[in-house]
Amino acid sequence: MTHLEEQLQRPLQPKDGTAGIERPKALVDALPEDPEPLLEIAARHVVSSRQFDRATLIQLFRLAAQYEATPALMHLPLTGKILISAFYEPSTRTRLSFESAWHRLGGAIMSITDPKSTGMAKGESLVDIAEMFNNYGDVIVLRSSEDQAVYQMLEGLRIPIVNAGNGIDEHPTQALADVYTLAKWRPELFQGHVDLQARIRVGIIGVPSRMRTVRSLLLMLGRFPEAIREVVIISREHENFDSGQREELEAAGLVLRVVDQLDPVLPELDVVYINAIAWVGDTFESLGTGLHLTRNSPLKPGAIILHPLARGDELATDLDDTPHNWYFAQARGAVFVRMALLTSVVRRISAVMDTPEQ
Ligand code: CP
Repeated sequence: MTHLEEQLQRPLQPKDGTAGIERPKALVDALPEDPEPLLEIAARHVVSSRQFDRATLIQLFRLAAQYEATPALMHLPLTGKILISAFYEPSTRTRLSFESAWHRLGGAIMSITDPKSTGMAKGESLVDIAEMFNNYGDVIVLRSSEDQAVYQMLEGLRIPIVNAGNGIDEHPTQALADVYTLAKWRPELFQGHVDLQARIRVGIIGVPSRMRTVRSLLLMLGRFPEAIREVVIISREHENFDSGQREELEAAGLVLRVVDQLDPVLPELDVVYINAIAWVGDTFESLGTGLHLTRNSPLKPGAIILHPLARGDELATDLDDTPHNWYFAQARGAVFVRMALLTSVVRRISAVMDTPEQ
């Protein structure tokens, strides 16, 4: 039998071994339901990880886990709603997982994948484009290389906008996917008090001031300081934090350490988050030279690896079929956590907007 014939005959299986429904079910069981926090984000813009408090995150993760565990029971809460999916910068996961989430919720989509196909090519302002979007859809998901684009659009918007990555500033829904993955991995970390010996040490290979995924993740981890013994930043840069960034994270309760060597610290880490690219203007910079993970890296037994992807040389494919690979589960879970977010932001939008001010 040829290799191709073997491939065609092989039954299809989840590749990462963590994509079953047991983990989301366990998460649902571990977290008590409370509908109130999700009502707070109805008809709200989502721009920064700072907007999410602990209670809201817990309920979003619980709802995401319900979606992930019981897809057959899903009704279609967003039937008749229209998503404007505006991606002015390349994306595989974010755009497709948002659009997959929206389809699974029963909504319709208008998708922009090239700004040159819109009035931006003729110099139209983002404020004017936002005014048009108000009339055409119920929610916008925006990806832009420009830090300020999402803030400029806010000025003219009467429908919610969700930031799907703005330059080197933030990527809050990626952070939702990241922390949702941690919640499925170890639900007990999200139940309140965590004994000192059970707290985790998180290593982040990346630059907090120049990587939007890292910036948003750190802010969101700051909502769960009781679960985290230490966050170790592994970076070869001289300046790793913006002015006030480290202070904000420490004020939230995170204990931070910065090192420039990976292998000596790896055996201590329970979670290894690796990223190597930062979007700057219309292109990306590759950072973290010399910092990479392979099957031979001295990882702690039981440690998990997360990566927002796209993958570069920093993460060897020989890790894909090891139990350290949680990055594929992380990408898969992004669909369900985005479903939870979109449902919460959009489903009650008419009710919220029709309610007169008290
Ligand atoms: N994680 C992430 O933002 O991936 P994409 O660039 O493919 O959307």
